[in-house]
Amino acid sequence: MKISVGVFFGGKSTEHEISCISANQVIHALNAEKYDVLPIYISKENEFFIGDELFDLANYSSFLKDPASRLEKVAIYKDGNTVRIKPVKGMFRKEQKIDVAFPVVHGTNVEDGSLAGFLQMLDIPYTSCDVLGGALGQDKAAMKDIFRAQGIPMVDYFVIYSSDFEENFDTYFAKAKKIGFPLIAKPANLGSSIGIEVIKTQKEFKEKVAECLRYDFKVVVEHMIKGLKEVNISVIGSDDEAKYSAIEEVTNGFLDFDKKYQPKGSKGAKTGAAKSAAKGASKGMASTIRKVPADLKKKQKEEIEKIALKVFRVLNSFGCVRIDFMIDKETDKVYCNEINTIPGSLAFYLWKEEGVSFDAECDELIQNALNRYARRSRKTYSFDTNILDNYAKK
Ligand SMILES: Nc1ncnc2c1ncn2[C@@H]1O[C@H](COP(=O)(O)OP(=O)(O)O)[C@@H](O)[C@H]1O
Ligand SMILES: [Mg+2]
Repeated sequence: MKISVGVFFGGKSTEHEISCISANQVIHALNAEKYDVLPIYISKENEFFIGDELFDLANYSSFLKDPASRLEKVAIYKDGNTVRIKPVKGMFRKEQKIDVAFPVVHGTNVEDGSLAGFLQMLDIPYTSCDVLGGALGQDKAAMKDIFRAQGIPMVDYFVIYSSDFEENFDTYFAKAKKIGFPLIAKPANLGSSIGIEVIKTQKEFKEKVAECLRYDFKVVVEHMIKGLKEVNISVIGSDDEAKYSAIEEVTNGFLDFDKKYQPKGSKGAKTGAAKSAAKGASKGMASTIRKVPADLKKKQKEEIEKIALKVFRVLNSFGCVRIDFMIDKETDKVYCNEINTIPGSLAFYLWKEEGVSFDAECDELIQNALNRYARRSRKTYSFDTNILDNYAKK
């Protein structure tokens, strides 16, 4: 019997459209002989939809604004040992079930552990990180604090909280001066370079941090590498076994701050940044110029591979992740920048380089999900007690 795979994507995230692109790649990569594929679209209002139109990316622009016009809204619920998908309105359509969930979501409100929490509650095997892994991967401040505690090499940084930015301005400013300008400020919880500010001089510090705080309550401020080389590596695995892929070198528009940077006071920065993200989404992978494998010294390559496996473990990762590194071309030093717990296109192009086809990669992720579920089922999560007997009417 075929395994029913629910591919979840979209959601209330700035990377909604990019997720639609990645998910469609997965939907078509999944081997139809082994799997019944059910695309499950999460709208920008976080409602669930299914429908045949979801199999073709060319249809998407016609329903993004009003999904109910073309798709069927569904409820997803647990019924004994089965996870069922049922139309919210009308009983015409037969209900469906899913055996495995395959999240292909990016960004806040979905990739950050939110969707994992929902799937965990449904008690179904799923292919991505669990709540903790997803949350740590999304929050740059928490992630960097763990990197620091685990001795993972990274650039100097500190975290600013909006709640006391004014009050403790002098302390924050002193920290900034200690690292030295130029600095880079990032909202802790966004992606795709949205809201990122370059702080060139001391004079700009207050204004640029305030701009960045429009996007989040927490901002990470860090040393800016001027001669930057960016390389990424993917890791697939679970807590007991993990392997790394080829390494890519990337250069793209997101990294060109002069181009992307918004003129100050423009209404703003927010609209502009969102536009730049939308542009990246519409172009999908084409917007990134990548070189696989990256030109690296043997020592650097080995260092990156070793750190990647360590990051995968300390961030409680699972499934397929991509770990991004920065190399300072002046010193040749390698710094870990961040993890993407559900990377764009599931980094299939890095696995292809290793001889792993996209459908084989998806098979492996589903197999890992089933194994984790079986292993977890063997742990004890509930036990019989007679505590409540004490409260029963005598
Ligand atoms: N410390 C840094 N020095 C120089 N450039 C940086 C630094 N941090 C980030 N960048 C640039 O900004 C881009 C986005 O930052 P990143 O931390 O990857 O956030 P995002 O989650 O938005 O991808 C990076 O890909 C890189 O080009
Ligand atoms: Mg990044």
